[in-house]
Amino acid sequence: MDRSDFTLDDGVTYLNNGSFGPSPRRVQEVRKSWIDRLERQPMQFLTRDLEPALRDAMNPLADLVGTASTNMTFVDNATFGMNIVARTVPLSRDEEVLLTDHEYGAVMRVWRDRCKETGAKVVVQRLPDPLTDPNELVEEFLKGVTERTKLIVISHVTSATAAIFPVQEICHAARRMKIPVCIDGPHAIGMVPVNLDVIDCDFYCASCHKWLSATFGTGFLYVAPRWQHRVKPAIISWGGSVSGQEPSWQDEFNWIGTRDLSGVLAIPEAIRCLKEHGWERFRNETHQLVQHGAERISSLTGLDPLINDHTTWNASMITLPVPGIVENGEQHGRRDPLQNTLWNRYQIEVPVFTWKNRRFLRISCHLYNTTDDVDHLLNALEECFAKDHKFV
Ligand SMILES: Cc1ncc(COP(=O)(O)O)c(C=O)c1O
Repeated sequence: MDRSDFTLDDGVTYLNNGSFGPSPRRVQEVRKSWIDRLERQPMQFLTRDLEPALRDAMNPLADLVGTASTNMTFVDNATFGMNIVARTVPLSRDEEVLLTDHEYGAVMRVWRDRCKETGAKVVVQRLPDPLTDPNELVEEFLKGVTERTKLIVISHVTSATAAIFPVQEICHAARRMKIPVCIDGPHAIGMVPVNLDVIDCDFYCASCHKWLSATFGTGFLYVAPRWQHRVKPAIISWGGSVSGQEPSWQDEFNWIGTRDLSGVLAIPEAIRCLKEHGWERFRNETHQLVQHGAERISSLTGLDPLINDHTTWNASMITLPVPGIVENGEQHGRRDPLQNTLWNRYQIEVPVFTWKNRRFLRISCHLYNTTDDVDHLLNALEECFAKDHKFV
């Protein structure tokens, strides 16, 4: 697969799959065929065909992530899944939810909100900086556990820092301490091998519209069997099967009012596309591209990287420091001037942001990217840093 299999606008250098990943044309077409089917006979589709179709769509996804399809339910995105977990895990005054200092802003907000409601406390554990040894990360993170810890929330692949975290080791240690773990995994699906039965977490929240190349508004929530009888919906609807099937815990989540589920029904086509290309090949090619970008950016800026060993910590996405500090740069929705310039002058989409008072750029590469895209970014950065002191 290459750029010709996607429908990206000509002239756009898209290096931000990590935020929003476009889907191949084939996947978009399968999605449209499901919409056509719904429009041709809505009663037939929604009340008879939908539930079996959802089951069929879940099977290849469950195979991909190494668990039974009965442990998963489709949701619109990882955020949706995280909100279900926040409603499900009981919390009370002075109990604690433990997160790392690399977690996604919206996820932090979900737990701050939930803790405010219940009187519980968010505990943010600082991780080693720079990240060097995954075992050291586990050790440092678990120092944040106390007898009041009621839940651990941790990214599988972090957003700002683009690091792959040793979630399996954390889950196994937490299990020995009887602390449930919710993994925030939207970047991991497709980007790295995932085996949920082996990881043995309690919840896994994922989006399929990033690295798996499914269409937008597609995700899943994994719920370990030990939680399935008490998982609570974030949206209340009928709570039963619409086609009169045997009751299951997923009923609460399949039907949350009338909606368009064509995106999740097209997930098997996204899996097929990447499988045909070859999972290893996809992962190697995209890693090589970001690694090439990382080397060039590091030699351009001369700044100490957040992570030295990209082979251990990064897959298809790498975050690198760039010169300059932007005040209030962590404010959501505010675009860094360098990001704006890269788009306005060079038609390059790449996020630039402030994290812990340092300025970073994150490059993501998927099958539609080539070395030319990365080199275009590098040439643009060279010009920006050389000519326009406002950006440094
Ligand atoms: C680590 C992490 N968690 C959660 C999310 C939210 O994903 P979504 O917008 O698909 O719900 C993101 C989005 O970039 C993310 O990077």
